[in-house]
Amino acid sequence: MRAMVREHRVHPSQLILPAFVAEGIREPRPISSMPGVVQHTVDTLRRVAADAAAAGLAGIMLFGVPETKDAEGSCALDPHGILSEAISAVREEVGDDLLVMSDVCLDEFTDHGHCGVLTPGGAVDNDATVAIYAQMAALHAACGAHVVAPSGMMDGQVAAIRAELDRTGHGDVAILAYAAKFASAFYGPFREAVASSLTGDRLTYQQDPANVREALRETLLDIEQGADVVMVKPGLPYLDVLRTVREAVTVPVAVYNVSGEYSMIEAAAANGWLDRDRTIDETLLAFRRAGADIILSYWALEWARRHHEGRLTA
Ligand code: PBG
Repeated sequence: MRAMVREHRVHPSQLILPAFVAEGIREPRPISSMPGVVQHTVDTLRRVAADAAAAGLAGIMLFGVPETKDAEGSCALDPHGILSEAISAVREEVGDDLLVMSDVCLDEFTDHGHCGVLTPGGAVDNDATVAIYAQMAALHAACGAHVVAPSGMMDGQVAAIRAELDRTGHGDVAILAYAAKFASAFYGPFREAVASSLTGDRLTYQQDPANVREALRETLLDIEQGADVVMVKPGLPYLDVLRTVREAVTVPVAVYNVSGEYSMIEAAAANGWLDRDRTIDETLLAFRRAGADIILSYWALEWARRHHEGRLTA
């Protein structure tokens, strides 16, 4: 009876696995603040992507960790850079069985850790950064990405990427836009995951956690500029924003269950304070209930496998 009257469900086809791939390592490298998540080698990434396809996930979202970083984040535009190589390898591995998605942002590649290049005065240079994002997106598309995901929160990034993708013959590559991305403390463990050297903050380009109307405005702008899917991020502390966005737009809405949300549940579970599997199930379900069509989660693959095994908790 409970199954029949259940209002919301999570399905593997709604889940995307974020995954890290690092240059210059021979074995996967654990991320201490995210137990169970690693920086992959290109080879182990291929295997995870194949597993994700077999488990029926929607996609894999790739983040590259280069060996060398500089002020311009120049590795990001290197056709043989770590992210380019990873996209090509994964696409070769999975073909069209899994959506290959790539993070379009500079923070993994810059030595100062900001999401863009800087002006001589040290501020993030919006327009120069957007021009680089557009080239990055076209490079990822050429490597085989089905979907590009600009996460840097620069103004005009979606329009510039759409135009460059279309100009370079990648009209069928979709844009998943980080539309409402807040300046959040919950990204803490991600900084370890990508070996970010950020000092300072992202308050000039990410949103104030206090603002719902602004989130909606940013989202509508991204849709006007050509976003195919819009995303709210982080997830758990922003379920109200997710609900507001869902009701205001007609494109699919994604949510990012970010690193800090992962780590706090893993830490509590490791201490025996939470029932891990039930907490994960309830977390993913909460996103669906709040209106998410698509969920990015570090638990995506594990959850899908458990789902297939029919061990889901009620
Ligand atoms: C930026 C980016 C970040 C995350 C995804 N893309 C970090 C940031 O904005 O500071 C965070 C994801 C997470 O915490 O899981 N490229």
